[in-house]
This record gives sequence, C-alpha cells and structure tokens, in this order.
Amino acid sequence: MRRKLLFGNWKMNKTREEAKAFAEEAKELDRFAKAHNIDIGVAPTFLSLCGVRKVNPDLCVAAQNCHFEDHGAFTGEISIPMLLDLGVTWCLIGHSERRTYFGETNEACNKKLKALFANNMTPIYCVGETLAEFEANKTKDVIKEQVLVGLEGLTKENVKKLVIAYEPVWSIGTGKNASTTIAEDICGYIRELVKGVFGEEASEEVRILYGGSVKPENVKAYLGEKDVDGALVGGASLKVESFRQLIENIL
Ligand code: PGA
Repeated sequence: MRRKLLFGNWKMNKTREEAKAFAEEAKELDRFAKAHNIDIGVAPTFLSLCGVRKVNPDLCVAAQNCHFEDHGAFTGEISIPMLLDLGVTWCLIGHSERRTYFGETNEACNKKLKALFANNMTPIYCVGETLAEFEANKTKDVIKEQVLVGLEGLTKENVKKLVIAYEPVWSIGTGKNASTTIAEDICGYIRELVKGVFGEEASEEVRILYGGSVKPENVKAYLGEKDVDGALVGGASLKVESFRQLIENIL
C-alpha cells in the first residue's frame, strides 16, 4: 500500500524567519497527517533548510535542486554531501522551472538521480509537458523521454523509493488544472513505463504525485484517482492554514 504524500514546493519564497515560523506552526500538522497515514514535507530554499530542520526535525524537508558532483569548481552550486550535512534527505529534481529557466536536461536529471540514490537520498523527479506539446498531442512522447532518460541506469530498489511528480507545465501557477482524467491517464502511463523497465514490484511501489494549481478545493479529486499517490503543491503550500486544509480535505 503506497502512503499518500503531500509536498510543498516553496520555490523562491520565504525568508529564514518566515520559513521557521511555518515549521513551528506545522508541528501539529505533521502529527495530524501522520496519524492519518499521510506523509507531508516542504522544499524551502537552501538558506532555510537548516532552520526548518532545527525547528521541526520530523517534517520531511527537501532541497529544490542539487549538483551531481560531491565537490569541485561549480560556482553557485550545492552538493549532496552538503545537504546531508544538514540532515536533508529529500531533493526535487527537474522541476519545470529548472528545465525552462536554467536549461536542465533529462541527462542532467539522470546524473542527479543516480548521485542522490548513491547517497541514500529520496528524489522527487518532476516531469511534464509544455502547453505547445500538450496542444500538439505530444504529452506521452515527452513524458516517455523524461522518464526513460531520467531513470536510466537506476536499480529496481532505487525506483521503489523514488517519487515522480507529473506536473503539466501549463498548469503550474496558472490556475488551469489538468482534469483528473488527464492526471490519472498520465500518472497511470508513468506507472506502466516504470513497469516496463523495472518490473511490476517497482511500479507498484513508486509514488506518483500530481502537481499544478493544486488547491484545497481540488486536492481530494486528484488523490481519489488510482495512480495518483499525492500532490506537489506550490502556491497553496505557502501558508500553514492552506496546507492544513489540503490535508483535511483529503480525509
Ligand atoms: P503551483 O506549483 O501549485 O503553484 O501550480 C506547483 C509546482 O510548481 O510544483
């Protein structure tokens, strides 16, 4: 049985104080979610990872990116051992904003996924098509490439621990949700792709999230779908009250 997972992607929001205040308030929320078999987590900026961990060590905390090398001449980058040093064991990879604004490719994502697993971390690998690709009926081609190249060389055991987030680019931050039918169709398709390469067991264990304008009002419908195990939430994850509503509305 796959546990439900709700993850907040804070993007480039919140000062350290704001992040810590959220973490403090979220203590109660975390206990409440766990009591209902739901895992919750947040992805703050690098600067707030330490503070959030200190204030609320039980909350899953993810970095929003990492470098695949342990150290070296990579100005401006953060390595996996540096994240582990803070006790951070989760990391988003390949978010569409990283792909669009920072040129992140499927091949680079693959290197990062391998490096994260080599360090026993849990990646949340983001995939999704642009509006042009969606309108050209290319969604499945794009997803297939992102999944197959991104996961290339991983083991079955890796994939069992992996989280994949399907986020159509056209629905991120736009208020234009993908229908639950689309979400289920693509999340199910991703599970089939995983099954084809890594086998049935891995495909049954990999957790697949939907992301893109998820709000308290629509979260339950997505999570009611067979292959949707949770949600990656941007805007609606920034306030504790809204996060609380997301959890309550799933129950
Ligand atoms: P959104 O962002 O919920 O604000 O659409 C989702 C994401 O980018 O992960």
